[in-house]
Amino acid sequence: MARVALVTGGTRGIGRAISIELKNQGRKVVANYAGNDAAARAFTEDTGIVAYKWDVGDHEACQEGVAKVAAEQGPVEILVNNAGITRDGTIMNMTFDMWREVMRVNLSGCFSMAKAVFPGMRERRWGRIVNIGSINGQGGQYGQVNYAAAKSGIHGFTKALAQEGARYGVTVNALAPGYIDTDMVAAVPPDVLEKIKARVPIGRLGRAEEIARGVAFLCAEDAEFITGSTLSINGGQHMY
Ligand code: CAA
Repeated sequence: MARVALVTGGTRGIGRAISIELKNQGRKVVANYAGNDAAARAFTEDTGIVAYKWDVGDHEACQEGVAKVAAEQGPVEILVNNAGITRDGTIMNMTFDMWREVMRVNLSGCFSMAKAVFPGMRERRWGRIVNIGSINGQGGQYGQVNYAAAKSGIHGFTKALAQEGARYGVTVNALAPGYIDTDMVAAVPPDVLEKIKARVPIGRLGRAEEIARGVAFLCAEDAEFITGSTLSINGGQHMY
C-alpha cells in the first residue's frame, strides 16, 4: 500500500512541485490549500492529485482536515509543512496584524499540522515530517522580521520535534530554500530582486522542482538516519 503524503500549500508554487515529485516516487499524495479554488481545481485536473481545503493557521481546522484525509485516503505517514505567506515591510511599516498573520500561518501552522499527525506516526512507528524553512530564517532579510522569525522558529521546532520522534521511527527535518522562481518571489520589487540574484553564486533563481527533489530525499524509505537536519538548497547563496 502506498503511503499517504500530505503537502500543505500543495497546489501552487513549491508545494505543487513537491506534490508531483512525491507522487512520482509512488506516494499517495494529498494536497492541502487555503484559498485559491481555481488553482486547486486546475492542479487536480492536471495531476490527478486530490486537494483538500482548510487554513493551516486554524488549529481546529487542521485536526478536522487531517481526520477527514485519514478517513478518506488512509493515515498520513508523510507530512510536508510547506504552506507559507509573506507580509513584507520594514518594522517602521509593519503592523501587528502583519506580524501575527505570518506567525499564525507559517509557524503555528506547522505545530497544528504536526499535532494532528504525530500521534499516529508514533503509534505506527514510522513517519516523515519535512518543514519548509527559508534562507531568510537562517540569515534574516531586510523587510521581513515577521517571516524571518517564523522561518527561524521552524528550524528550532524541527530540531525539538526530531528529538521526540527519534525513538519511534518518525524523522523530522527542515529544508531551507533560497530564492525560488514562484509567485511569492515574483512579488519582490524588480530592482530588489536583481540585487538578490546578484548574490546567488549560481546566478539564477532556483526552480520549485529543485526543492521538491530535496523533500523526496528526506521522505525516502531509507532516510531513517536523517533527522533534525536542515537541508539548504539555495544556489550557494548562504552556506550553513
Ligand atoms: N538593505 C538596506 N536597505 C534596504 C534594503 C536592504 N536589503 N532593502 C530596501 N532598503 C531600503 C530602500 O532602499 C529604502 O530606502 P529609502 O527609504 O532611503 O529609499 C527603504 O529601505 C525602504 O523603505 P520603505 O519604507 O519603502 O520600506 P517598506 O516598509 O515599504 O518595505 C520592502 C519595503 C518590503 C523591504 C521591499 O524593499 C521588499 O520587498 N524587499 C524584499 C524583501 C524580500 O526579500 N522578501 C522575500 C520575499 S520571497 C520569500 O520570502 C521566500 C523565501 O523564503 C526566500
